[in-house]
Amino acid sequence: MSFPNQLYLDAPVVGQTEKEYLCQAIDSGFVSTIGPFVPEFEEKFAKYLGLPKVVSVQSGTAALHLALLELGIGPGDEVIVPALTFIATINPILYIGATPVIVDVDLDTWNISVASIQKAITPKTKALMPVHLYGTPCDMDEILQLASQHHLVVIEDATESLGARYKGSYTGTLGDLGAFSFNGNKTMTTGGGGMVSGKNESQLAHIKFLANQAREESKGYYHPEVGYNYRMTNIEAALGLAQFAQFSDFLVKKKRLNEIYREQLSADERIIFQKVKDGVESSYWFSALRFPQLEDVAELQNKLKNQNLPSRRNFVPLQHMPPYKQYSNSTYPNADLLYATGLCLPSSCLNDEESVKYFCKVLKELL
Ligand SMILES: Cc1ncc(COP(=O)(O)O)c(C=O)c1O
Repeated sequence: MSFPNQLYLDAPVVGQTEKEYLCQAIDSGFVSTIGPFVPEFEEKFAKYLGLPKVVSVQSGTAALHLALLELGIGPGDEVIVPALTFIATINPILYIGATPVIVDVDLDTWNISVASIQKAITPKTKALMPVHLYGTPCDMDEILQLASQHHLVVIEDATESLGARYKGSYTGTLGDLGAFSFNGNKTMTTGGGGMVSGKNESQLAHIKFLANQAREESKGYYHPEVGYNYRMTNIEAALGLAQFAQFSDFLVKKKRLNEIYREQLSADERIIFQKVKDGVESSYWFSALRFPQLEDVAELQNKLKNQNLPSRRNFVPLQHMPPYKQYSNSTYPNADLLYATGLCLPSSCLNDEESVKYFCKVLKELL
């Protein structure tokens, strides 16, 4: 079996539909933050999630930042986050002067461990930020129950999990507020952008206001609060609408790629996939697995790279990086093990089945 086609890690699918929408935006003259595609994208996105309203922003990071601000988190408040995530989960907590508390993840699902959350809750805890890692939903029933027991708010970091469902509900609609990302490596992209979701319309209206420099437009350039320039542009929303029109196909493709990986690899006892529990539907932004017998996955990744086969290691657990070390007050055996032994597989919707099977064959040979 020879290498059939180029394999992509996470490249987006963009083409004719995107060109058409972008040309419309340019022809209309609306290239910046005013324009019809922004509200249209928000309406379609809200409808998809089954929510009355969402707010488009410049990035998933901005979405998380505004969600924290809106929920009144600030200095002296503790916010619990998983060790295994992208730094954009923890950074907005530091932007607002609150204190992140890093907890370990579950070895099966790779998501925040409910038992670890429980141990980390103190009288200062104000919020939980579960991250649906690589598109696989967290144990939301247990998380929401803990939150209600301790009067905490929940901000879902759904930046990687658009389209994933927990017991029938989309991730990003379960907590108080949710954040999505349309960065170029996500299942759908706006080039760079994000969305805030939630059920409380007045909170979302205030988030929209904050994202627009807190401008009270009826009074001209009058700004009663400190705001942010976090608005999505009409050009980005044009890309978003074009991508969103194809999103259900992207989701089917992601699921199919995961099926192929499982068909080819799950019987191998040297491999354990990130677990998707019953009642939960992953969006498989990344198909991800670990090699329990390896001490360090770096060597395997290099061998794959030498054969032009892309892969991606897990995030470096937060507690190992200088800005975040001080927010760890526990041990993180699962996050550490997942970092040492876990790998994300080529998961771009551009990949064809034959190439993915070839990847699996080479991976088994290299193990
Ligand atoms: C877990 C997680 N949180 C937050 C973000 C931030 O999103 P963005 O890159 O759009 O700011 C990302 C993605 O990049 C992410 O993977």
